[in-house]
Amino acid sequence: MATILRQNVSNQVQVAYEKEVGEYYFAGLIRHINVALLHIDFAQLDAPDWGIGNITSQLVWNLYVKAPTQGGICKVYNRQWQPEDEKYKTSGSYGYDYSLIATSEVKHNIPLAGDLVIFNSRNFHEVLPGIGERITISSFIGKMPGGDLVFWS
Ligand SMILES: [Fe+2]
Repeated sequence: MATILRQNVSNQVQVAYEKEVGEYYFAGLIRHINVALLHIDFAQLDAPDWGIGNITSQLVWNLYVKAPTQGGICKVYNRQWQPEDEKYKTSGSYGYDYSLIATSEVKHNIPLAGDLVIFNSRNFHEVLPGIGERITISSFIGKMPGGDLVFWS
């Protein structure tokens, strides 16, 4: 992913670096999950005190290494998280109340091994239960205020 971006954008593309700690982030999470509640991933919210908290926008890429034989659909809603949405977060959970997306357009990504799926992770999304293993490799891509792109997981 970094190589493809470097060939197509003029800004710097690199793994995110935390100046305060003097270390690079990790990028390339391998996950084995079968369900995810309605949620968003946005570093301004998730990591406001870290370098990545300065990003202005965020994508996620998921490469399906193994896909469920049935189900496991990733639903991405055409509704981006706003700070006032925090009051709709389910207590003690990372999930949000479904009333937030009740009238939102939705895209269904049916997982297929070998597919690469990229979307704005600030948009509400969820993974429905599936039958069979679901293994993905993924990371986030953030756009820093100056336009450089950074990767982390
Ligand atoms: Fe997510």
